[in-house]
Amino acid sequence: MAKFFPNLKSNYRCLILLLSCGWSCTIILCLYFKTTDMPLTHNHVSKPAACVQRKCAPDREPTDWFCARYAPTVQLLLNSRNSELSANVSSWWTRLFGNRDANYTTLVRNLFQLLPDQEHNSDPHRCRTCAVVGNSRNLLGSRYGPFIDSKDFVMRINRGSTKGFEEDVGSKTTHRIFYPESVGILNNSTHLVFIPFKVWDFEWLIRVFTTKHTTKDCSKNLDIFHLQKNINKDKLMIVHPEFIKYVYVNWTEYHGYYPSTGFLAVIFALHICDEVDVFGFGATKDGTWHHYFDKTLIPYTKTNHPGEFEYETISRLHSEKKLFMHKGWT
Ligand code: C5P
Repeated sequence: MAKFFPNLKSNYRCLILLLSCGWSCTIILCLYFKTTDMPLTHNHVSKPAACVQRKCAPDREPTDWFCARYAPTVQLLLNSRNSELSANVSSWWTRLFGNRDANYTTLVRNLFQLLPDQEHNSDPHRCRTCAVVGNSRNLLGSRYGPFIDSKDFVMRINRGSTKGFEEDVGSKTTHRIFYPESVGILNNSTHLVFIPFKVWDFEWLIRVFTTKHTTKDCSKNLDIFHLQKNINKDKLMIVHPEFIKYVYVNWTEYHGYYPSTGFLAVIFALHICDEVDVFGFGATKDGTWHHYFDKTLIPYTKTNHPGEFEYETISRLHSEKKLFMHKGWT
């Protein structure tokens, strides 16, 4: 150093030495990251991995909008090993129906003593195609039936029936998504995807499997008609409360009070299927949810669900080629 800068004081020489070392290190590091393609930030690391959807459709590339929402590692189904809730999930979920005091931990422990501890959907499937069939009246006259039945999984929601509507909605049901108050037709060979919106819903399940008795304190959810249902334990899948909150935060973006069963089913399908076709979603022009199988008309503004936002989100998923939405006929 003294040879190159004979006239400089020794502390200036040190400074120049330090600066040149700094620059050399920066250049070496930049070259290293460039050649190894190593991400520079943690966000960068997780982003591409965060939106790896099950897929076999080559045109289904991740988009920024999708990746900002889709979390492949979210807990989908509850089992005895993953039932402990984070404080975050627990406070939101137990507040939903004001049952903070109910003892979730005890109920879940008791419930899993009654159930076979099994993994669902762990089979490596060639390319799983799924139909999610909502209950909108836009299905009438659609003649979607044979196409719906051609899918590996056909998921129906709440009381959505097939009898008498086969031409438009199909006749196959592999999964039924429901909660205690919406339970309708159940059959022994169908997977039952149970959505616990309330802590008491676990007590409902326990009573279905045991006494079938109602109690005074929670009679609304435990009425005798619903308790008589025969639920096949081997086919029961319980949606994790973390998943419900994830859909509310990431997909409905805090709109409404909580997501509708149908919308939960659509996002659930995005997590377990390679190809998702959606049918039977869409209200009337004035925002009323109508059914293909009965005459009920429910303005979704009177439900706790963000019907319009959900519909827009499904439409966006369609335009981003993450699913295909069939808009129906009427
Ligand atoms: O009425 P129900 O809740 O049983 O319908 C199942 C789901 O189908 C709803 O949760 C909603 O997501 C969807 N639906 C819809 N348009 C309708 C009726 C229902 O999008 N007209």
